[in-house]
Amino acid sequence: MLLRFAYASARPPAFAARWPERRERRTLVRHARVRRTGLARVAAVPRTARRPPPRTLMSALVKLDAITKVYWMGEVEVQALRGVSLELSRGEMVAIMGASGSGKSTTLNVIGTLDRPTGGRYLLDDEPVEELDEVELAQLRNRKIGFVFQSFNLLPRDTALANVELPMVYAGVRPADRRARAARALARVGLEDRAHHLPNQLSGGQQQRVAIARAIVNEPPLLLADEPTGALDSATTGQVMELFCALHAQGMTVVVVTHDRSIADYATRVVTFRDGAIVEDTGPRGRRVDVPPPVPGPSSSPPGPSSSPPGGLS
Ligand SMILES: Nc1ncnc2c1ncn2[C@@H]1O[C@H](COP(=O)(O)OP(=O)(O)O)[C@@H](O)[C@H]1O
Ligand SMILES: [Mg+2]
Repeated sequence: MLLRFAYASARPPAFAARWPERRERRTLVRHARVRRTGLARVAAVPRTARRPPPRTLMSALVKLDAITKVYWMGEVEVQALRGVSLELSRGEMVAIMGASGSGKSTTLNVIGTLDRPTGGRYLLDDEPVEELDEVELAQLRNRKIGFVFQSFNLLPRDTALANVELPMVYAGVRPADRRARAARALARVGLEDRAHHLPNQLSGGQQQRVAIARAIVNEPPLLLADEPTGALDSATTGQVMELFCALHAQGMTVVVVTHDRSIADYATRVVTFRDGAIVEDTGPRGRRVDVPPPVPGPSSSPPGPSSSPPGGLS
């Protein structure tokens, strides 16, 4: 009896002997459950990497940090941007001003991910833009950004409705949904009765409103406009700017490049450029922001009309 007891206690306990096998079984069961519930992809990512970055209400939608942009014209280096740092919060309506050639469009194109900067860092809604490839960039742009250009850029042979549908074609929205959403976007800009007109059957102001409908149809948080009223008369300019204000009031972040001081009056913040750098920033809600000095470079000022007198807005 005693001998049998001694023998039994010398053997490893039955549970300990089977433990690794049990653990393996539990893991298999858990994996099967994850596969069934479609969580496999999520479960494969380490827990710490799964959490989205902390995002406060005040986190910047656009964060440019020391952005530089150099163009090469043959042998000549053009420093279009010389260390631009700018944070735009959600819900701002910003006017970017400055003389012709001062870097306004280049900055807008960098913000819109149409142009890659030469140096510096850019976070769009907390995503480091420079780490994305072209496909990821196009998807991000399609989701987050609407563009409006001075020359409207409508397809001339497509109706207003078809032009507005275009960004949703790229986003893979089904045709019936596309049509309904495009019609709603046209109604938002007051053009529901012009849906089947071609661009050349519309006035300049109406064409720009179609372009705005196209820019907002995917409900992007950020609307970028480069001289959107440059080709319009003053009455139409007022209508288009009122439309931007209405979209801003509905929660959109709006950035308008202009050299027209009266347009800047619609904005809650005015950022002024000179020779590829920000020289003045009223800051959000009128709080003035300290502007870092521009990056000194081999060519201190880009060639061309940007050498117009300081403050002289064209
Ligand atoms: N694609 C380009 N190639 C070469 N130089 C360019 C190009 N785009 C802009 N630039 C130069 O960069 C500077 C800034 O241009 P831009 O951002 O278009 O100014 P703005 O919009 O304020 O008029 C200018 O000197 C311009 O000539
Ligand atoms: Mg420009």
